[in-house]
Amino acid sequence: MEIVHTSVLLEECLEWLSPEGEDYGPHPLLIDSTLGEGGHTYAFLSKYNNLSVIGIDADSVIQQKAKIRLADFGDRVSFYNGWFDDFYANYPTDRENPNLILFDLGISLFHYEESGRGFSFRYDEPLDMRLSPSARISATDIVNKTKEKDLADLIYMYGEERFSRRIARAVVEARQHEIIENAKNLADIIYRAVPAEYRHGAIHPATKTFQALRIAVNGELERLPRVLESAFDVLKVNGKMGVITFHSLEDRIVKVFFRNLSKKCICPPEQAVCTCGGKKRAEILAKVVPGEEEIKRNSPSRSARLRVVKKIRCD
Ligand SMILES: C[S@@+](CC[C@H](N)C(=O)[O-])C[C@H]1O[C@@H](n2cnc3c(N)ncnc32)[C@H](O)[C@@H]1O
Repeated sequence: MEIVHTSVLLEECLEWLSPEGEDYGPHPLLIDSTLGEGGHTYAFLSKYNNLSVIGIDADSVIQQKAKIRLADFGDRVSFYNGWFDDFYANYPTDRENPNLILFDLGISLFHYEESGRGFSFRYDEPLDMRLSPSARISATDIVNKTKEKDLADLIYMYGEERFSRRIARAVVEARQHEIIENAKNLADIIYRAVPAEYRHGAIHPATKTFQALRIAVNGELERLPRVLESAFDVLKVNGKMGVITFHSLEDRIVKVFFRNLSKKCICPPEQAVCTCGGKKRAEILAKVVPGEEEIKRNSPSRSARLRVVKKIRCD
């Protein structure tokens, strides 16, 4: 049976990013910045029949699946294959601006289960983790070429892994004998490197290191602040932007960005005179987490957070 990603906080997205009301005109536009297999887009197009969607994904393989799934919606949906930060940074001036923007960050179940690119520590697959061939380095490059201290820092910073130093040491030791280019191999090295009690905790001991590698390979934490700024710029006034995050590193970036949009002055507190212009640009509408029922039905949703803002001015 085909495995399909379960969209997270779906009802909440439909409600908080509703295009209903006089602010949105007769033909509102939603940009789904992380289309994946198109679960959110499918629900939006089904519920709001005057809505059109542009669906972005860096990964052409998953986007192909979304195209098939969304085919019945015809020209109400169009597609862009590429990184979301490139898309918004080069938004054509003659293209209609969106009323709604959604980000559902991270990767899809497809990536873990079907992509064959080593996102999961469970499978005997090449350790690649690139969402797009345009990513400059693979996870194999990082694991085999990074100095021990830098590797430990990367695992600690992007994975918040407390055994980062032990893991980096074990990786460096192992790669002296043989290049590490297989996901399951790396997971076994990590398993052996951590203390015995950590091996049988709530999550597999390789979970955080794999998260760190994926974030580094795809430049996730560099792209996010860039894209929030440029996506908010193209959003229409009265438009709404929602972001679903899955770990505290990205949630912090979104929280601070939204908070700054909603403040009158964002100069550092120690600065005596305001130089930022001091205008509030957005209103914070919501911060939503999944309910118990959703977490029971779809356990990966447990760490999700949806934050939504409404743009109130464009200067
Ligand atoms: C969590 S999945 C989206 C799932 C989708 N909302 C659904 O309900 O089916 C995130 C998707 O965003 C894509 N993605 C992640 N980072 C991206 C980036 N910087 N630019 C473009 N696409 C990205 C991934 O390839 C993945 O398909």
